[in-house]
Amino acid sequence: MKIIAINGSHRKGKNTATLLNALLEEATAGGATTELLELTDYNIKHCLSCNKCLGRPQCSITDDDMAAIGDKLLAADGIVLGSPVYWGNVTALMKNFMDRTRYMHMVKNMLAGKVGAAVTNAGLRNGGQEMALRIMESFLAAQGLHVVDCRNHDGPIMYSGVAGSLLADVKDGKVVWRKSVLEDEAAMLAAKQLGRNIVKLIKALRNN
Ligand SMILES: Cc1cc2nc3c(=O)[nH]c(=O)nc-3n(C[C@H](O)[C@H](O)[C@H](O)COP(=O)(O)O)c2cc1C
Repeated sequence: MKIIAINGSHRKGKNTATLLNALLEEATAGGATTELLELTDYNIKHCLSCNKCLGRPQCSITDDDMAAIGDKLLAADGIVLGSPVYWGNVTALMKNFMDRTRYMHMVKNMLAGKVGAAVTNAGLRNGGQEMALRIMESFLAAQGLHVVDCRNHDGPIMYSGVAGSLLADVKDGKVVWRKSVLEDEAAMLAAKQLGRNIVKLIKALRNN
């Protein structure tokens, strides 16, 4: 069982990566082989909107790293997208990645039947996390993946999405910042639960 996480943060190894790594650690404990792919490490050109992928499942741009990433997506059973909130949205890196997967979708849904999930982190509380999650989850659903959420059906309800924030609180008019999302216990627990839920769904789909 292979699970790949794609980090659209412009900063490698920071908060979004922390959430993804917590999720992947949990997935590894459940028996998965995992990989974290940082989009900043890859050269991904912008989609040209040439529309050649309407007639064949292939991108006309071949002199960048997108085909290699596409091969990794095809080889995975689970795909997790992570993006910080930028302007209430996903990052430009994440959106560019999404655009370039169009060739996997237009002739046939090449990723159909896999399991997908998303995580996000923002500076503020209510800083756009729900929108960023919805954008990534809608993309995964359009690509034919089974989108899984982080709910823990056996325990107390503490979260409804992996949505970290750096703003911890406001005390006497002053903002209290977290040093990192590691201090956002609900988000870290949600990331771990999502890792378990992804493994559970992949196993259930395999047995059917
Ligand atoms: C260009 C830009 C736009 C941002 N827009 C928002 C925003 O709309 N809402 C918010 O709460 N935080 C916003 N932030 C803060 C980031 O979401 C936050 O710092 C996040 O933790 C970054 O993730 P990272 O640590 O993985 O890089 C923005 C940051 C940048 C650089």
